[in-house]
Amino acid sequence: MSDFVNGFWGYFISIIALGGVIWCIWLLYTQRRWLGTKPVAGQVEDTGHVWDGDLTELNNPVPRWWTWMYLLMCLFALGYLFFMPGLGEYKGQLGYSSTGEVAQQQARMAEAVRPIYARFETMDIPQISQDAGAREIGQRLFLNTCAQCHGSDAKGGPSFPNLADGDWLHGGSPEAIMQTITKGRVGIMPPWKGTIDPKTAGDIAQYVRSLSGLTADPVRVFRGKREFANFCVACHGVDGKGNQALGAPNLTDDVWLYGGSEATIVKTILDGRDNRMPAHEEILSPEQIKILTAWVWGLSNKPGAESVASNEAAK
Ligand code: HEC
Ligand code: HEC
Repeated sequence: MSDFVNGFWGYFISIIALGGVIWCIWLLYTQRRWLGTKPVAGQVEDTGHVWDGDLTELNNPVPRWWTWMYLLMCLFALGYLFFMPGLGEYKGQLGYSSTGEVAQQQARMAEAVRPIYARFETMDIPQISQDAGAREIGQRLFLNTCAQCHGSDAKGGPSFPNLADGDWLHGGSPEAIMQTITKGRVGIMPPWKGTIDPKTAGDIAQYVRSLSGLTADPVRVFRGKREFANFCVACHGVDGKGNQALGAPNLTDDVWLYGGSEATIVKTILDGRDNRMPAHEEILSPEQIKILTAWVWGLSNKPGAESVASNEAAK
């Protein structure tokens, strides 16, 4: 009953449950004079209601089996309420609880999968990322826990980063990825509405576009560059290559969390962005987080292929 804010509801439920049983027994008691009598045609009382001229409502005695059935049901209910939790704070003689059952099942489950994960205990992230069995588990975990935000192919979407492109907001090392999954991340870009007017924001957006080699108006780029140096370099760096410690994205790689059009960049500048990756330490076990880390890391670190962890070089 811990879900209730005070003791009242416990009593309320107990009274309704017991009251229902008592009422049922009382009703059967009031009908006892019929017990043992058999309805005899022509001698049965009627209620006085007649429909369609000849359809009379009879008042037959309650059948005996019916009375017994209800009596047994009342006994069953009382027995149930004695053994099982059902009356307010009373826990029942058997001490059963559904939370306890879930905990037991989870413990059994953890025990059953322990040997599966034990194999990966001594392996490091790159090794796990190449293990076929681990990749299969990782993929399933990802589809269950991460795909609703990052997409089933891990390629993300607006505001949800692509995890397969070797470009990282917070870092692509095994440690950084594990930290991201365990503790979550926030990416906050402050709004500049009060400080920067929309026209200037447009100029800055042109400069930001030019950093990624996108088409931009040279005159506005020139003006925007000056403003960028004023307002943006603290987080995105003098060269616009970002800062993983702050989660400030690299603005020079034509990889966009929100989009690279002038309108979208202006919106980012004026309204800011507040983006969160939820912590998973309470949802996933450390073993599962390790496998997921390896799976995500493996997306951009394919064995044999040229390493795409190019952020390392870009830093
Ligand atoms: C509720 C949505 C949501 C879920 C669920 C989610 N993420 Fe994220 N994740 C985000 C957002 C949003 C960000 C970007 C945070 C930011 O802007 O700094 C992010 C960022 C990340 C990053 C950092 C990417 C980078 O470029 O540094 C990694 C790695 C990541 N998520 C992995 C996962 C994994 C693995 C799971 C499943 C265990 C998962 N995420 C579940 C929303 C989610
Ligand atoms: C206090 C640090 C900070 C400052 C100052 C800052 N930004 Fe950001 N910016 C961020 C962070 C953090 C993000 C990532 C937000 C997220 O994860 O959703 C971001 C995201 C962006 C994006 C989105 C990139 C994409 O991939 O879609 C753009 C564009 C951007 N900033 C441009 C600017 C410009 C232009 C300025 C100067 C007017 C600026 N930022 C100032 C921290 C900052």
